[in-house]
Amino acid sequence: MGKSEAMKGLEEKIKACKKCPLGELRTNAVPGSGSYDAKIMFVGEAPGYWEDQKGLPFVGRAGKVLDELLESVGLKREEVYITNVVKCRPPNNRDPTEEEIKACSPYLDKQIDIIRPKVIVPLGRYSMAYILNKFGFEAEPISKMHGKILEAGTLFGKVVIMPMYHPAVALYKPQLREELEKDFKKLKEVLESLS
Ligand code: SF4
Ligand code: URA
Repeated sequence: MGKSEAMKGLEEKIKACKKCPLGELRTNAVPGSGSYDAKIMFVGEAPGYWEDQKGLPFVGRAGKVLDELLESVGLKREEVYITNVVKCRPPNNRDPTEEEIKACSPYLDKQIDIIRPKVIVPLGRYSMAYILNKFGFEAEPISKMHGKILEAGTLFGKVVIMPMYHPAVALYKPQLREELEKDFKKLKEVLESLS
């Protein structure tokens, strides 16, 4: 099975999923968007209001910040892949629960296996905690971990993990936006060193 076929099948499964209570509350599930051949995968936390309305990741205010950060280093949305740890919106944008993460994360695992990215960028502490744990790293506070370059071995080769702050924090903390901008510059350098 090709990548495209595998991803489309997975997206259909996600859209029909009722494995956790969030499935009853959603307008649309948000599987992810972007290139199935992406070298970079960005992994946010969970859909918010606009993502739930549109069925697409990062299309609200945090998405606008993410777009600006991508653009600042010459990356296009279409060439990266963007998804979340949890695919349906938690009510009132509350944090996802452990059970919801447990129920939903196998979809993210499959997406990683299909896309085989060279770099994974967890955005925010929930996503960071999940990804670091998955690849066998200890999670320290995101204030310490953001911008760090971690290397993990996978069945499909080496993957770089680079945690970053969640773009939503940039909306109310300008100094964290600067950190995000610096981390994106570093991400660009990492990408250049890989190609
Ligand atoms: Fe299924 Fe994930 Fe949606 Fe829960 S959040 S219903 S596990 S797709
Ligand atoms: N915040 C997230 O973590 N993910 C989205 O898709 C949108 C906002």
